[in-house]
Amino acid sequence: MTWFDEDAPNSGFWSVHRYADIVELSRDVRRFSSAMGVSFEEPTEEDMTARRTIIDTDPPAHTQLRKIVSSSFTPRAVSVFEHFVRALTDVTLSAALPQGEFDFVEHVAREVPIRVLAKLMGLPDATLDDFIELGDKLIANTDPEITDVVWGRDDTEEYRRFPFRSPYGKQLWELGRGLVHDRLAHPSDDLLSTVLDAEVDGARLSQVDVDNFFSILVIAGNETTRIALAQGILAFAEHPEQWDRLRNDPTLINSATEEVIRYSCPTHFMRRTATEEVQLRNQTIRQGDKVIMWYVSGNRDEEEFKDADRFDVGRSPNRHLSFGRGGPHICLGAHLARLEVRVVLDELAKRVTRFELAGDPIRIRSNFTNGLRRLPVAVHLS
Ligand code: HEM
Repeated sequence: MTWFDEDAPNSGFWSVHRYADIVELSRDVRRFSSAMGVSFEEPTEEDMTARRTIIDTDPPAHTQLRKIVSSSFTPRAVSVFEHFVRALTDVTLSAALPQGEFDFVEHVAREVPIRVLAKLMGLPDATLDDFIELGDKLIANTDPEITDVVWGRDDTEEYRRFPFRSPYGKQLWELGRGLVHDRLAHPSDDLLSTVLDAEVDGARLSQVDVDNFFSILVIAGNETTRIALAQGILAFAEHPEQWDRLRNDPTLINSATEEVIRYSCPTHFMRRTATEEVQLRNQTIRQGDKVIMWYVSGNRDEEEFKDADRFDVGRSPNRHLSFGRGGPHICLGAHLARLEVRVVLDELAKRVTRFELAGDPIRIRSNFTNGLRRLPVAVHLS
């Protein structure tokens, strides 16, 4: 565990790297709060009140919010989508694979997660490109090639009450409000309707709560799963023997899915804030200190994973940290993400004998995500 100073206005942070420490911190929600945000940014209490989502809410309020949507994300609820995901993957691959050489991010990884979310939440097709673009600009808010409003610059000051301190966060809310307006007029059985119908302590959610719920559901489920898919195929291009192994033994599909999610670690970290002084590994974390839990490091911790740097589609056990672990914020969409990765791998395994890189992968400039902007691949078909 190491302390790092930061430039003003930030105040520095602890970096936590070991698997066991990350699980312990995630579990200890009383002493390690999410309420001041989960990134390096240091928003004020007022900023947070305006843009607090479920991910930066502590129990007991967190428990109430999560209860509104949790039944839509159980393994059983999610299994209903398998048929849809398979048909969607079939259409997507039938368009992409005959090209022989193509950008896997654009033609496959980008397509599947957003359309699954659209189905779940009732987003109209015509809005999907806007959601993808806004999500990219928010999540990759440190990459000047993706957004013109880069985090850390003074020109973000006026957007501090919006998601990711960005004008694109404001646009995301506006887009969401348009859909909410339509849904209130025409109620349906999708997740957006569930959120709009929900009551907490006898009252409907406020406009701010609906804005924030909407934006986290759209952002969290789209970018992350896209990264897992693209980084997974990059791993298979670099380790063709693992692709052969999966193709020759389809019973490995679940462990391969889990390994892709461990190895790709789409979200590198989450942050907590200490609510009191805590001793950890002979160091003193002071009240108010930021603590960054590096999942990407814990996922390669030799004390938990044998040959941790090895990409091994048969890895078992595989209690990775990519969805968080041990605490109440563990990824709400984990089963949905697993389903998508599993079905895409499964359908690819039936059709593709080998992936080769057809150019350099282009990474998103970010310490938060492991995103790829482009993944040029050549596919050999069976
Ligand atoms: C491979 C894909 C995904 C990865 C790697 C991922 C990762 C994560 C992580 C690391 C957290 C925070 C855990 C913590 O703080 O303890 C989280 C929370 C969350 N994720 Fe995911 N996620 C993925 C897919 C999804 C999907 C498909 C959805 C669906 C909408 C989703 C919705 C959420 C939500 C709403 C939260 C906040 C949960 C809470 O605070 O209670 N995620 N995810």
